[in-house]
Amino acid sequence: MRILGIESSCDETSAAVVAETGDPARPWTIQSNVVASQVAIHRAWGGVVPELASRQHLRDICGVVQRALADARVGWRDLDAVAVTQGPGLVGSLLVGVAFAKAVAWVLERPLVAVHHLAGHIESLVLHNGEIELPSVVLVVSGGHTNLYLVSSPGEYRLIGRTRDDAAGEAYDKVAKLLGLGYPGGPIIDRLAKQGDDRAVAFPKPRLTHPASHAATIDPPSQFGRLIAGRFDFSFSGLKTAVVRYVQARRAALGLPEAHPLPEREIADISASFQRAVVEALLDQTFQAVRWFDARSVGISGGVSANSRLRAEAAARAARAGRPVYLPSLALTTDNAAMIAAAGLRRLREGRTAGWDLKADPALPLG
Ligand code: KG4
Ligand code: ZN
Repeated sequence: MRILGIESSCDETSAAVVAETGDPARPWTIQSNVVASQVAIHRAWGGVVPELASRQHLRDICGVVQRALADARVGWRDLDAVAVTQGPGLVGSLLVGVAFAKAVAWVLERPLVAVHHLAGHIESLVLHNGEIELPSVVLVVSGGHTNLYLVSSPGEYRLIGRTRDDAAGEAYDKVAKLLGLGYPGGPIIDRLAKQGDDRAVAFPKPRLTHPASHAATIDPPSQFGRLIAGRFDFSFSGLKTAVVRYVQARRAALGLPEAHPLPEREIADISASFQRAVVEALLDQTFQAVRWFDARSVGISGGVSANSRLRAEAAARAARAGRPVYLPSLALTTDNAAMIAAAGLRRLREGRTAGWDLKADPALPLG
């Protein structure tokens, strides 16, 4: 079985060909994975501009899919199915992928599979590492999401925690913007943090101060939801505010005008201290969930899982906990269609195909 995957939920147009191997331990192999990034377009605006994103997807989608077929050395008729990201994401962007996938599947008379974007991020772990020990606690951490899932059996994703405000990647991007560092901020802060002192600034540990006053994690509330009631949720807006206040105070102390960059040394220290706070918060909650559910493995995926400190500390904590930790390859951390194709193959084997009335859903829930 060979599937074409299409991903267009945010600012990357991606197409990939992924095939089944026949080996249950390592079920899928990537035959091609083409990503056309729009980062250069959105950089000028300091973030993704939805209207520009959807227009660029329209320009790129045909070429990206053709290139994915060429790289995989297959023709249209060699495809057995088509998988596409149905949501969540920017509706205009999603529509481009969904319409294109439907047209291809219709013309080729092949099954169409609808994939949840975060199921794709979770399956990127299996695509890269092979099947992982279950139950697993998986942290999906990106620019749009910071969610914790319990995966008890293959393809079953249960939401056990999420951010109540900003996603971790969003916090990275906002802090980078504040420091005048450019977009996207995650990789830049990651690099600068290596030259800074992570104890230089005592930022508060990002956590929920009043869990009870916020909405419950699991919606609608179930017995399971009441049991874990916000226990594994995240919050990053307080940390972001603390960085804003600190930077303002330092500018005032140094007599710098508003928006003037701080000295390089201080930017490195702020980056390192901020990064320590984020990584500790992410891993504290993840490993607390690992203990709570007695999980047999830990997974971390999504754009922020490229972070060097997160990778190193996750490995150290997992070793202490006696559990393996799984990460995607760097190419599979950010948005890509290979992970969507992989999740699509899983769904196809479960017999879950989509109808021709499939609609993009910007707020599609998972688990
Ligand atoms: O998964 P992704 O490509 O897109 C979303 O679905 O959001 O994630 C992009 C996010 C951005 O916020 C970016 O700053 C962050 O991932 N990111 C990083 C690193 N590389 C990318 N954050 C921290 N450290 C990194 N090395
Ligand atoms: Zn993503």
